[in-house]
Amino acid sequence: MFSSTPLTGARTILTGASSGIGWALAKQMARAGARVVVASRNQDRLAELASSIGASGGEAWSVPTDVTDPAQRTALLERALAVLGGLDILVNNAGAGAMGYFALASEERLRRVFEVDFFACTELTRLALPLLRAGNQPMVVNVGSVIGRRGIPGCSEYCAAKFALAGWSESLRAELAQHGVHVLLVSPGAIETGFHQNLLDDQLRFGWQQRGGMSADRCAAIIMRALRRRPNEVTITAGGKLLVWLNRLVPRAVDAIMVRLARPDRLADRRAVPSE
Ligand SMILES: NC(=O)c1ccc[n+]([C@@H]2O[C@H](COP(=O)([O-])OP(=O)(O)OC[C@H]3O[C@@H](n4cnc5c(N)ncnc54)[C@H](OP(=O)(O)O)[C@@H]3O)[C@@H](O)[C@H]2O)c1
Repeated sequence: MFSSTPLTGARTILTGASSGIGWALAKQMARAGARVVVASRNQDRLAELASSIGASGGEAWSVPTDVTDPAQRTALLERALAVLGGLDILVNNAGAGAMGYFALASEERLRRVFEVDFFACTELTRLALPLLRAGNQPMVVNVGSVIGRRGIPGCSEYCAAKFALAGWSESLRAELAQHGVHVLLVSPGAIETGFHQNLLDDQLRFGWQQRGGMSADRCAAIIMRALRRRPNEVTITAGGKLLVWLNRLVPRAVDAIMVRLARPDRLADRRAVPSE
């Protein structure tokens, strides 16, 4: 049986809070009594979030931040320390995808995806570690993806960055255990958010990439349970669990499905197709 850790008073930094999963999670964490510094680039959305949390009796501070900028990461940590007086939970949730075949993309796209989905998380965590080590039941929460557990065609850079995040999370968990800092990896499947409108690059879409998914509120509720129970990893959505499970059980069959999915005749939106 899992014991359950209350979140009351948990001093938290949550990135990527201006929409989607981060927005829903900020509200649920604040409702559970966490004190939350919310960070992302959209200042107006963050201010709206902080004021709506405040109006419902919670505590939140908005700190506009581009997590790919080292100076802004430092400023975020300094502001969080000033308002919270310490840090118990860091949620690395900010993220962005890019769609299109690898062969038709550039090194620049690969590096941009890694800056947001990997390096921003590692370097914000590096800055936060001294505070976390002094925190109460401290935890780093990395929001990865099920496609950071099984690669799919059409977004290879994003899959690679989320795989990197998963591997780094496993290593970090082992290293930080002696300091009492837990590392939780969250691997969502398809969630209905602005993710597909906020892509760093949008060269093509497959039909199956345009299906709906679980609501952000439901996804946040599952993350909330994981924050309390502190497992090593939580995989979200039935489809996501099925993909990971099938890939363990019959990897070659999943490979064959992926080959079929990558064919140009599966494209829903032919903006960039590979040359014959
Ligand atoms: N939706 C899905 O199906 C799905 C599935 C698996 C994993 N995920 C992961 O879940 C996390 C949240 O995504 P979402 O679905 O909620 O998508 P979303 O609605 O597009 O939210 C992404 C958040 O990341 C922030 N962000 C992006 N680039 C940033 C930057 N450079 N600096 C600071 N913040 C930045 C955005 O805010 P600003 O634009 O204001 O900066 C926004 O708040 C991401 O890590 C994503 O990879 C999503």
